[in-house]
Amino acid sequence: MRSKNTYILGIESSCDDTAAAVLCNGNVLSNVVANQAIHQKYGGVVPELASRAHQQNIVPVVDQAIEQAGISLADLSAVAFTQGPGLMGSLLVGTSFAKSLAYGLDIPLIDVNHMQAHILAHFIENEDTEKPEFPFLAMTISGGHTQIVRVDAHFKMTVIGETIDDAVGEAFDKSGKILGLGYPAGPEIDKRATLGNPKAFKFTRPKVAGLNFSFSGLKTAILYFIQKQLKENPQFIEENLNDVCASIQYTIVGILMDKLKLAVKETGINRIAIGGGVSANSGIRNALKEAESRHGWKTFVPAFEFTTDNAAMIAIVGHLKYLDKNYADQTIMATARLKL
Ligand code: KG4
Ligand code: ZN
Repeated sequence: MRSKNTYILGIESSCDDTAAAVLCNGNVLSNVVANQAIHQKYGGVVPELASRAHQQNIVPVVDQAIEQAGISLADLSAVAFTQGPGLMGSLLVGTSFAKSLAYGLDIPLIDVNHMQAHILAHFIENEDTEKPEFPFLAMTISGGHTQIVRVDAHFKMTVIGETIDDAVGEAFDKSGKILGLGYPAGPEIDKRATLGNPKAFKFTRPKVAGLNFSFSGLKTAILYFIQKQLKENPQFIEENLNDVCASIQYTIVGILMDKLKLAVKETGINRIAIGGGVSANSGIRNALKEAESRHGWKTFVPAFEFTTDNAAMIAIVGHLKYLDKNYADQTIMATARLKL
């Protein structure tokens, strides 16, 4: 007979990380991620290579998650997987694996929306972080997404703003490419930004009405700026790299904070939870801390391992849906453009 504990296996394969995690009653027992280094030399994710790497990684990653959790497959209560949004070839690997495993073990299969998971990662049981009270605003910022979401309950979410072109992580990564930095460039821009002058160079902020974002114009502005400077001084990048990084980061953080302030004003909600890879950025973290003291906001930043793409966030959604007996059936399909 199965124990009263709820063990959920989460599987994430929406982009370029193959991940599996096991949660027991919402507590993380294991959280395994296999990053795909293969994309670095291409300066971005190559979908066909990602799919192939997922196929190679999925069995060892799930095995490791089960082993580290100290359980066996027979202990699992359900299998949760990312249905979308993401790259179709990548999603298909996790979806078909999860379907087969749930079928073979004769346990429930639970579909998870990746964007919902970035937000519900705040509900993973964790002594060090507090869970946000409803309603709150969630800002999901990563290489694939930029959204502000009003969250009234675990499964009552409304997108109130999103990017109309590039995601904010892309703005970091594409700027980094212009500067000759490796991929993904976000972490290096962040590191250099702490050593530079954020007001050394000024980049105009895009004018987008309401709570939507646009980052493609910024990338072009940076490109033209660098090309112009290089004409005058071929060593411009080497001589000014930290200041350029600090100025880019200052501009991006300013764009995010302006929209958050508007969202707080429009909704009257001042509890802000962030998620996604860019929430690791020191500039955005400092700006949020400052907003706590200056504007009386309450902000929530998840532990780093739960903020970049990971499977613990998929498993926590699986756990919450399992409690509601909200299961999928075997006809479910990966959906690349799944909406929140
Ligand atoms: O959530 P994530 O791991 O994957 C998805 O894109 O879904 O986010 C990756 C993105 C990349 O664009 C990367 O450059 C950015 O997050 N990133 C950062 C930092 N760490 C990661 N951007 C700015 N500052 C950072 N410290
Ligand atoms: Zn993501």
